[in-house]
Amino acid sequence: VILRKAVARVRARGLREVWNLSRERIREQISSGDTLLFLVRSAEHVGTDDTSLIFKQAEASDAELYARDIGTDSAATFQRRLTVGTRCFLVTDGGKLLHASWVATDRSWAREIRAYLVPPPGSEYVYESFTRADARGRGIYPFALKNIVSIAAKDGLEKVWIAVEADNEPSKKAISKAGFELAFEVSYRRRWGRLTIDAPTGPEAETGKRFIHQAQGREK
Ligand SMILES: CC(C)(COP(=O)(O)OP(=O)(O)OC[C@H]1O[C@@H](n2cnc3c(N)ncnc32)[C@H](O)[C@@H]1OP(=O)(O)O)[C@@H](O)C(=O)NCCC(=O)NCCS
Repeated sequence: VILRKAVARVRARGLREVWNLSRERIREQISSGDTLLFLVRSAEHVGTDDTSLIFKQAEASDAELYARDIGTDSAATFQRRLTVGTRCFLVTDGGKLLHASWVATDRSWAREIRAYLVPPPGSEYVYESFTRADARGRGIYPFALKNIVSIAAKDGLEKVWIAVEADNEPSKKAISKAGFELAFEVSYRRRWGRLTIDAPTGPEAETGKRFIHQAQGREK
């Protein structure tokens, strides 16, 4: 079956394209997950296209919906996570929950680099963004980000931060559509279970150093 599929792909796309694609995939596998890009943009009112999408700040009463449609937290954990410094924003369409993004002005945990992230004063950090697989490619993530940036301005914040794995092309596209620009990047690697994180590099590397607080050997 695998061979038959491969033959069909080569027929449909041509040998060169399939070869290039496979090489790209292998390269991605080798280098995947080793650089986090941090992007930033100013908090200001940003208009969004007229759509049927509804954007709202999550409340405790959204817990069941979140657990069912997003599924990354149980209803109880979802409720526990909502605090003054940690909010969650949702995008719904016709009563169906399609997207969730978490936003923190206080610290949040970044599992990949085993560090707490603390956005600079006057700013907030967007993380754990997720669009349901059956709703991807409709511009829902950029729509959510534009709304988040507008609310940040209303809240009197100056900047909104976000991080993305360097190999997450769909996410990078969506984030740049919402006007975010690269501020600094952090490379990391694991050898024999030991994690090494390089110093941040890029135009705002100094901010990066204050942003990332590595857990000192403690398990979270
Ligand atoms: C990254 C993610 C949030 C993007 O959400 P989205 O609402 O689909 O965003 P967009 O509609 O703007 O699509 C962004 C890109 O995804 C790609 N895309 C389009 N349709 C897609 C589909 N059906 N499935 C997967 N990706 C698709 C396209 O490259 C698109 O950009 P383009 O329209 O310029 O070509 C979503 O893919 C997701 O939840 N991924 C898993 C979790 C994740 O990576 N979160 C981000 C952490 S920073």
